[in-house]
Amino acid sequence: MKPTPDAMSQATRPLAAWTYQSAELAELEYETLFRTSWQFVCHVNEVPKPRDYFTLDLPRDPVLVLRGDDGVLRAFLNVCRHRGAKVLDGNATCKARLTCPYHGWSYHLDGSLAGRPSESTFANPETAQLGLRPLEIEVFCGLVFVRIVPGGVSLRDMWKEYLPLIEPYQLEDMVSLEAAGYEEWKCNWKVGVDNNLENYHVPLGHPGYQRLLDSDITGFMNQHGVAGSLSVLRPQPSSNWAERMYQQMAPGLNSNLSAKVRNTWSFFTMPPNTGLDIYGDSMDLFQFFPLGAQRCRVRYPIYVRPDTRREMKVLRYLNARINRQVGAEDRALCERVQLGINSKDFAFGPLSSYEHCVLDMHARVQAACPVSALESNPGEGVLRERNSSLCAGAT
Ligand code: FES
Ligand SMILES: [Fe+2]
Repeated sequence: MKPTPDAMSQATRPLAAWTYQSAELAELEYETLFRTSWQFVCHVNEVPKPRDYFTLDLPRDPVLVLRGDDGVLRAFLNVCRHRGAKVLDGNATCKARLTCPYHGWSYHLDGSLAGRPSESTFANPETAQLGLRPLEIEVFCGLVFVRIVPGGVSLRDMWKEYLPLIEPYQLEDMVSLEAAGYEEWKCNWKVGVDNNLENYHVPLGHPGYQRLLDSDITGFMNQHGVAGSLSVLRPQPSSNWAERMYQQMAPGLNSNLSAKVRNTWSFFTMPPNTGLDIYGDSMDLFQFFPLGAQRCRVRYPIYVRPDTRREMKVLRYLNARINRQVGAEDRALCERVQLGINSKDFAFGPLSSYEHCVLDMHARVQAACPVSALESNPGEGVLRERNSSLCAGAT
Protein backbone atom coordinates (compact mmCIF):
# COMPACT_ATOMS: atom_id res chain seq x y z
CA MET A 1 0.00 0.00 0.00
CA LYS A 2 3.00 2.27 0.29
CA PRO A 3 3.33 4.23 -2.97
CA THR A 4 6.76 4.90 -4.35
CA PRO A 5 7.73 8.52 -5.03
CA ASP A 6 7.60 7.61 -8.75
CA ALA A 7 4.03 6.39 -8.58
CA MET A 8 3.07 9.54 -6.71
CA SER A 9 4.54 11.89 -9.27
CA GLN A 10 2.41 10.19 -11.93
CA ALA A 11 -0.74 10.48 -9.86
CA THR A 12 -1.33 14.21 -9.82
CA ARG A 13 0.07 17.41 -8.42
CA PRO A 14 -1.09 19.17 -5.29
CA LEU A 15 -3.84 21.72 -5.52
CA ALA A 16 -2.78 25.29 -6.22
CA ALA A 17 -2.75 27.73 -3.30
CA TRP A 18 -5.69 29.75 -4.70
CA THR A 19 -8.00 26.80 -4.05
CA TYR A 20 -7.54 27.48 -0.33
CA GLN A 21 -8.58 31.12 -0.74
CA SER A 22 -11.70 31.02 -2.87
CA ALA A 23 -15.15 31.40 -1.31
CA GLU A 24 -16.80 30.43 -4.60
CA LEU A 25 -14.79 27.21 -4.79
CA ALA A 26 -15.70 26.41 -1.16
CA GLU A 27 -19.38 26.61 -2.17
CA LEU A 28 -18.77 24.40 -5.17
CA GLU A 29 -16.84 21.89 -3.07
CA TYR A 30 -19.72 21.72 -0.62
CA GLU A 31 -22.12 20.93 -3.45
CA THR A 32 -19.98 18.44 -5.32
CA LEU A 33 -18.08 16.74 -2.50
CA PHE A 34 -20.06 17.10 0.72
CA ARG A 35 -23.63 16.66 -0.54
CA THR A 36 -22.65 13.54 -2.46
CA SER A 37 -20.79 11.88 0.40
CA TRP A 38 -21.67 10.23 3.69
CA GLN A 39 -21.98 12.69 6.56
CA PHE A 40 -21.94 11.46 10.14
CA VAL A 41 -24.94 12.55 12.23
CA CYS A 42 -24.99 10.59 15.50
CA HIS A 43 -24.48 7.21 17.14
CA VAL A 44 -27.34 4.76 16.94
CA ASN A 45 -27.39 4.74 20.77
CA GLU A 46 -28.39 8.43 20.66
CA VAL A 47 -31.67 7.48 18.97
CA PRO A 48 -32.47 4.14 20.65
CA LYS A 49 -36.25 4.39 21.09
CA PRO A 50 -39.22 5.16 18.81
CA ARG A 51 -39.66 8.95 18.39
CA ASP A 52 -36.03 9.71 19.28
CA TYR A 53 -34.48 12.14 16.83
CA PHE A 54 -31.15 13.86 16.19
CA THR A 55 -30.59 16.93 14.01
CA LEU A 56 -27.43 18.25 12.40
CA ASP A 57 -26.99 21.52 10.53
CA LEU A 58 -24.71 20.89 7.57
CA PRO A 59 -23.48 24.16 6.01
CA ARG A 60 -26.42 24.38 3.58
CA ASP A 61 -28.63 21.48 4.59
CA PRO A 62 -30.26 20.90 7.97
CA VAL A 63 -30.74 17.15 8.33
CA LEU A 64 -32.72 14.96 10.68
CA VAL A 65 -32.51 11.34 11.79
CA LEU A 66 -35.68 9.97 13.40
CA ARG A 67 -36.81 6.59 14.71
CA GLY A 68 -40.44 5.93 13.82
CA ASP A 69 -43.04 4.17 15.94
CA ASP A 70 -42.26 1.13 13.79
CA GLY A 71 -38.66 1.18 15.11
CA VAL A 72 -37.21 2.11 11.69
CA LEU A 73 -34.51 4.77 11.60
CA ARG A 74 -35.11 7.27 8.78
CA ALA A 75 -33.35 10.41 7.62
CA PHE A 76 -34.91 13.56 6.19
CA LEU A 77 -34.00 17.03 5.14
CA ASN A 78 -35.05 18.98 8.24
CA VAL A 79 -36.79 21.56 6.08
CA CYS A 80 -40.52 22.31 6.01
CA ARG A 81 -42.09 21.87 2.58
CA HIS A 82 -44.19 25.01 3.03
CA ARG A 83 -41.77 27.93 3.18
CA GLY A 84 -38.59 26.26 4.29
CA ALA A 85 -38.42 26.68 8.05
CA LYS A 86 -36.20 24.24 9.88
CA VAL A 87 -38.59 21.87 11.61
CA LEU A 88 -36.77 20.34 14.60
CA ASP A 89 -33.83 21.42 16.75
CA GLY A 90 -31.22 19.55 18.76
CA ASN A 91 -31.89 15.98 19.78
CA ALA A 92 -34.76 14.73 21.93
CA THR A 93 -37.90 12.63 21.75
CA CYS A 94 -40.74 13.98 19.62
CA LYS A 95 -44.51 13.56 19.75
CA ALA A 96 -46.57 11.44 17.33
CA ARG A 97 -46.28 14.24 14.74
CA LEU A 98 -43.59 16.76 13.88
CA THR A 99 -44.96 20.27 13.74
CA CYS A 100 -43.23 23.10 11.94
CA PRO A 101 -42.98 26.06 14.34
CA TYR A 102 -43.79 28.64 11.61
CA HIS A 103 -47.35 27.96 10.34
CA GLY A 104 -47.95 24.57 11.85
CA TRP A 105 -47.71 22.13 8.96
CA SER A 106 -47.35 18.72 10.58
CA TYR A 107 -45.67 15.53 9.45
CA HIS A 108 -46.05 11.86 10.34
CA LEU A 109 -42.94 10.12 11.64
CA ASP A 110 -42.43 8.52 8.21
CA GLY A 111 -42.08 12.07 6.83
CA SER A 112 -45.43 12.25 5.02
CA LEU A 113 -47.53 15.38 5.45
CA ALA A 114 -50.13 14.91 8.19
CA GLY A 115 -51.97 18.20 8.03
CA ARG A 116 -51.96 21.91 7.27
CA PRO A 117 -53.81 24.60 9.25
CA SER A 118 -56.59 26.17 7.13
CA GLU A 119 -56.45 23.32 4.62
CA SER A 120 -59.35 24.80 2.58
CA THR A 121 -57.22 27.85 1.69
CA PHE A 122 -54.86 25.76 -0.42
CA ALA A 123 -55.78 25.52 -4.08
CA ASN A 124 -54.29 22.07 -4.49
CA PRO A 125 -55.56 19.47 -2.04
CA GLU A 126 -52.94 16.96 -3.25
CA THR A 127 -50.43 16.53 -0.40
CA ALA A 128 -48.80 13.19 -1.22
CA GLN A 129 -45.73 14.94 -2.63
CA LEU A 130 -45.36 17.32 0.30
CA GLY A 131 -43.64 15.09 2.84
CA LEU A 132 -40.22 15.84 4.31
CA ARG A 133 -37.61 14.92 1.74
CA PRO A 134 -36.17 11.50 2.63
CA LEU A 135 -32.40 11.07 2.63
CA GLU A 136 -30.21 8.06 2.17
CA ILE A 137 -29.15 6.62 5.53
CA GLU A 138 -26.69 3.93 6.58
CA VAL A 139 -25.70 2.68 10.02
CA PHE A 140 -22.10 1.58 10.02
CA CYS A 141 -20.68 -0.04 13.19
CA GLY A 142 -23.31 1.87 15.19
CA LEU A 143 -22.56 5.19 13.47
CA VAL A 144 -25.43 6.86 11.61
CA PHE A 145 -24.56 8.58 8.34
CA VAL A 146 -26.75 10.33 5.77
CA ARG A 147 -26.11 11.22 2.14
CA ILE A 148 -28.02 14.11 0.61
CA VAL A 149 -27.47 13.26 -3.03
CA PRO A 150 -28.22 9.53 -3.17
CA GLY A 151 -26.20 6.91 -5.01
CA GLY A 152 -22.62 5.78 -4.85
CA VAL A 153 -20.76 3.33 -2.73
CA SER A 154 -22.09 2.14 0.64
CA LEU A 155 -20.12 2.72 3.84
CA ARG A 156 -19.84 -1.02 4.30
CA ASP A 157 -18.08 -1.28 0.94
CA MET A 158 -15.98 1.82 1.48
CA TRP A 159 -14.59 0.40 4.70
CA LYS A 160 -14.68 -3.29 3.71
CA GLU A 161 -11.02 -4.19 4.07
CA TYR A 162 -10.73 -2.27 7.34
CA LEU A 163 -13.60 -4.06 9.09
CA PRO A 164 -11.24 -6.55 10.77
CA LEU A 165 -9.38 -3.54 12.22
CA ILE A 166 -12.51 -1.73 13.41
CA GLU A 167 -14.96 -4.39 14.53
CA PRO A 168 -12.87 -5.56 17.53
CA TYR A 169 -13.36 -2.11 19.14
CA GLN A 170 -17.15 -2.80 19.34
CA LEU A 171 -18.04 0.75 18.33
CA GLU A 172 -21.74 -0.15 18.22
CA ASP A 173 -21.73 -0.46 22.03
CA MET A 174 -20.32 3.00 22.63
CA VAL A 175 -22.36 5.86 24.05
CA SER A 176 -22.09 9.61 23.78
CA LEU A 177 -19.87 11.19 26.44
CA GLU A 178 -21.30 14.69 26.05
CA ALA A 179 -22.79 16.98 23.41
CA ALA A 180 -20.49 17.31 20.39
CA GLY A 181 -17.93 20.10 20.65
CA TYR A 182 -17.64 22.75 17.95
CA GLU A 183 -14.73 25.01 17.04
CA GLU A 184 -14.16 27.52 14.32
CA TRP A 185 -10.69 27.25 12.82
CA LYS A 186 -9.15 30.07 10.78
CA CYS A 187 -8.29 27.92 7.79
CA ASN A 188 -9.84 26.43 4.69
CA TRP A 189 -11.52 23.08 5.42
CA LYS A 190 -8.96 21.31 3.19
CA VAL A 191 -6.09 22.44 5.41
CA GLY A 192 -7.72 20.53 8.26
CA VAL A 193 -8.31 17.42 6.16
CA ASP A 194 -4.82 17.53 4.62
CA ASN A 195 -3.41 17.63 8.14
CA ASN A 196 -5.54 14.67 9.20
CA LEU A 197 -4.30 12.67 6.23
CA GLU A 198 -0.62 12.48 7.10
CA ASN A 199 1.56 11.56 10.07
CA TYR A 200 4.64 13.26 8.63
CA HIS A 201 3.94 16.15 11.03
CA VAL A 202 3.59 13.96 14.14
CA PRO A 203 7.24 13.78 15.31
CA LEU A 204 7.57 17.57 15.45
CA GLY A 205 3.97 18.71 15.73
CA HIS A 206 2.78 16.36 18.47
CA PRO A 207 5.49 15.71 21.06
CA GLY A 208 2.90 13.96 23.26
CA TYR A 209 2.02 11.42 20.58
CA GLN A 210 5.70 10.96 19.87
CA ARG A 211 6.33 10.04 23.53
CA LEU A 212 3.20 7.92 23.85
CA LEU A 213 2.87 6.14 20.54
CA ASP A 214 4.89 4.28 18.01
CA SER A 215 3.17 5.93 15.04
CA ASP A 216 2.86 4.48 11.56
CA ILE A 217 4.17 7.49 9.68
CA THR A 218 3.26 6.17 6.21
CA GLY A 219 -0.27 5.01 6.81
CA PHE A 220 -2.46 3.22 4.27
CA MET A 221 -5.36 4.02 1.99
CA ASN A 222 -7.88 2.11 -0.10
CA GLN A 223 -9.42 2.78 -3.53
CA HIS A 224 -12.20 4.85 -1.94
CA GLY A 225 -9.70 7.20 -0.33
CA VAL A 226 -10.38 5.90 3.18
CA ALA A 227 -7.01 6.38 4.84
CA GLY A 228 -5.67 5.18 8.13
CA SER A 229 -2.74 4.50 10.38
CA LEU A 230 -2.29 2.33 13.43
CA SER A 231 -0.26 3.65 16.35
CA VAL A 232 0.80 1.39 19.18
CA LEU A 233 1.23 2.49 22.81
CA ARG A 234 4.93 2.50 23.60
CA PRO A 235 6.06 0.19 26.41
CA GLN A 236 8.63 2.75 27.65
CA PRO A 237 7.00 5.07 30.19
CA SER A 238 6.47 8.60 28.88
CA SER A 239 8.15 11.50 30.70
CA ASN A 240 4.75 13.22 30.87
CA TRP A 241 2.63 12.15 33.88
CA ALA A 242 -0.75 12.00 32.07
CA GLU A 243 0.68 9.93 29.22
CA ARG A 244 2.52 7.69 31.65
CA MET A 245 -0.64 7.06 33.67
CA TYR A 246 -2.56 6.31 30.49
CA GLN A 247 0.11 3.79 29.46
CA GLN A 248 -0.11 2.13 32.88
CA MET A 249 -3.89 2.04 33.18
CA ALA A 250 -5.19 1.42 29.64
CA PRO A 251 -4.16 -2.22 29.09
CA GLY A 252 -5.73 -3.43 32.35
CA LEU A 253 -8.92 -1.41 32.05
CA ASN A 254 -9.49 -2.41 28.44
CA SER A 255 -8.83 -6.09 29.16
CA ASN A 256 -12.09 -7.11 27.46
CA LEU A 257 -10.34 -6.26 24.18
CA SER A 258 -7.54 -8.35 22.72
CA ALA A 259 -4.01 -7.29 23.71
CA LYS A 260 -3.36 -5.98 20.22
CA VAL A 261 -6.53 -3.90 20.06
CA ARG A 262 -6.29 -2.40 23.53
CA ASN A 263 -2.77 -1.17 22.83
CA THR A 264 -3.54 0.32 19.41
CA TRP A 265 -4.85 3.78 18.61
CA SER A 266 -6.37 3.61 15.13
CA PHE A 267 -6.74 6.79 13.10
CA PHE A 268 -8.92 6.92 9.97
CA THR A 269 -9.99 9.63 7.55
CA MET A 270 -12.85 9.23 5.09
CA PRO A 271 -13.31 11.59 2.13
CA PRO A 272 -14.07 14.32 2.07
CA ASN A 273 -14.23 15.57 5.65
CA THR A 274 -14.51 12.94 8.37
CA GLY A 275 -11.89 11.67 10.80
CA LEU A 276 -12.39 8.71 13.11
CA ASP A 277 -9.91 8.18 15.95
CA ILE A 278 -10.48 4.94 17.82
CA TYR A 279 -8.95 4.08 21.19
CA GLY A 280 -9.58 1.09 23.44
CA ASP A 281 -11.68 3.20 25.79
CA SER A 282 -13.33 5.67 23.44
CA MET A 283 -13.60 7.19 19.98
CA ASP A 284 -13.46 10.77 18.66
CA LEU A 285 -14.98 11.86 15.39
CA PHE A 286 -13.86 14.95 13.51
CA GLN A 287 -15.85 16.66 10.81
CA PHE A 288 -14.57 19.67 8.90
CA PHE A 289 -17.18 21.90 7.25
CA PRO A 290 -16.40 24.88 5.03
CA LEU A 291 -17.31 28.32 6.34
CA GLY A 292 -16.30 30.41 3.36
CA ALA A 293 -12.76 30.32 2.02
CA GLN A 294 -10.57 30.72 5.07
CA ARG A 295 -12.60 29.36 7.94
CA CYS A 296 -14.04 26.01 8.78
CA ARG A 297 -16.24 24.57 11.49
CA VAL A 298 -14.92 21.52 13.27
CA ARG A 299 -17.40 19.22 14.99
CA TYR A 300 -16.02 16.60 17.36
CA PRO A 301 -18.36 14.21 19.12
CA ILE A 302 -16.81 11.77 21.61
CA TYR A 303 -18.12 8.27 22.36
CA VAL A 304 -17.03 5.99 25.15
CA ARG A 305 -17.34 2.37 26.10
CA PRO A 306 -20.14 2.09 28.66
CA ASP A 307 -18.27 1.47 31.89
CA THR A 308 -19.04 2.97 35.28
CA ARG A 309 -15.77 2.06 36.96
CA ARG A 310 -14.07 5.01 38.63
CA GLU A 311 -10.73 4.08 37.06
CA MET A 312 -12.33 4.17 33.61
CA LYS A 313 -13.43 7.73 34.32
CA VAL A 314 -9.81 8.56 35.12
CA LEU A 315 -8.63 6.86 31.92
CA ARG A 316 -11.11 8.88 29.84
CA TYR A 317 -9.93 12.04 31.57
CA LEU A 318 -6.33 11.21 30.66
CA ASN A 319 -7.26 10.40 27.07
CA ALA A 320 -9.20 13.67 26.74
CA ARG A 321 -6.30 15.61 28.23
CA ILE A 322 -3.80 14.07 25.81
CA ASN A 323 -6.03 14.51 22.77
CA ARG A 324 -7.16 18.03 23.68
CA GLN A 325 -3.51 19.03 23.54
CA VAL A 326 -3.07 17.29 20.17
CA GLY A 327 -6.21 19.00 18.84
CA ALA A 328 -4.88 22.40 19.94
CA GLU A 329 -1.56 21.65 18.23
CA ASP A 330 -3.33 20.64 15.00
CA ARG A 331 -5.45 23.78 15.07
CA ALA A 332 -2.42 26.02 15.58
CA LEU A 333 -0.54 24.25 12.76
CA CYS A 334 -3.50 24.49 10.37
CA GLU A 335 -3.99 28.19 11.07
CA ARG A 336 -0.27 28.77 10.45
CA VAL A 337 -0.59 26.98 7.12
CA GLN A 338 -3.49 29.17 6.05
CA LEU A 339 -1.45 32.30 6.88
CA GLY A 340 1.36 31.06 4.64
CA ILE A 341 -0.86 29.80 1.83
CA ASN A 342 -2.38 33.27 1.56
CA SER A 343 0.91 34.65 0.27
CA LYS A 344 0.62 35.43 -3.44
CA ASP A 345 4.00 33.82 -4.01
CA PHE A 346 3.19 30.48 -2.42
CA ALA A 347 2.90 27.19 -4.26
CA PHE A 348 3.04 23.76 -2.61
CA GLY A 349 6.51 22.24 -2.62
CA PRO A 350 7.07 18.60 -3.49
CA LEU A 351 5.24 16.21 -1.19
CA SER A 352 6.85 13.27 0.59
CA SER A 353 5.68 9.72 -0.03
CA TYR A 354 4.42 9.99 3.57
CA GLU A 355 1.87 12.45 2.18
CA HIS A 356 0.40 10.10 -0.44
CA CYS A 357 -3.08 10.36 1.09
CA VAL A 358 -2.99 14.17 0.81
CA LEU A 359 -2.26 13.87 -2.88
CA ASP A 360 -5.12 11.41 -3.31
CA MET A 361 -7.50 13.80 -1.58
CA HIS A 362 -6.37 16.61 -3.88
CA ALA A 363 -7.07 14.39 -6.86
CA ARG A 364 -10.59 13.80 -5.51
CA VAL A 365 -11.18 17.54 -5.18
CA GLN A 366 -9.91 18.06 -8.73
CA ALA A 367 -12.18 15.30 -10.04
CA ALA A 368 -15.24 16.72 -8.28
CA CYS A 369 -14.45 20.34 -9.23
CA PRO A 370 -12.31 20.33 -12.40
CA VAL A 371 -11.80 24.08 -12.06
CA SER A 372 -9.68 23.40 -8.97
CA ALA A 373 -7.02 21.80 -11.19
CA LEU A 374 -6.29 25.16 -12.84
CA GLU A 375 -3.05 26.87 -11.91
CA SER A 376 -4.80 30.14 -11.12
CA ASN A 377 -8.24 31.27 -10.07
CA PRO A 378 -10.33 31.99 -13.18
CA GLY A 379 -11.97 34.72 -11.09
CA GLU A 380 -14.54 34.87 -8.33
CA GLY A 381 -17.93 35.20 -10.00
CA VAL A 382 -17.02 33.15 -13.07
CA LEU A 383 -15.54 30.13 -11.34
CA ARG A 384 -18.75 28.13 -11.29
CA GLU A 385 -19.35 28.79 -14.99
CA ARG A 386 -15.79 27.81 -15.82
CA ASN A 387 -16.22 24.64 -13.82
CA SER A 388 -19.39 23.76 -15.76
CA SER A 389 -17.61 24.19 -19.08
CA LEU A 390 -14.72 22.04 -17.89
CA CYS A 391 -17.22 19.39 -16.78
CA ALA A 392 -18.81 19.56 -20.24
CA GLY A 393 -15.40 18.93 -21.80
CA ALA A 394 -14.75 22.47 -23.08
CA THR A 395 -11.36 24.09 -22.61
S1 FES B 1 -42.67 27.14 6.87
FE1 FES B 1 -43.35 25.41 7.91
S2 FES B 1 -45.45 25.71 8.15
FE2 FES B 1 -44.81 27.43 7.04
FE1 LIG C 1 -1.93 16.21 13.86
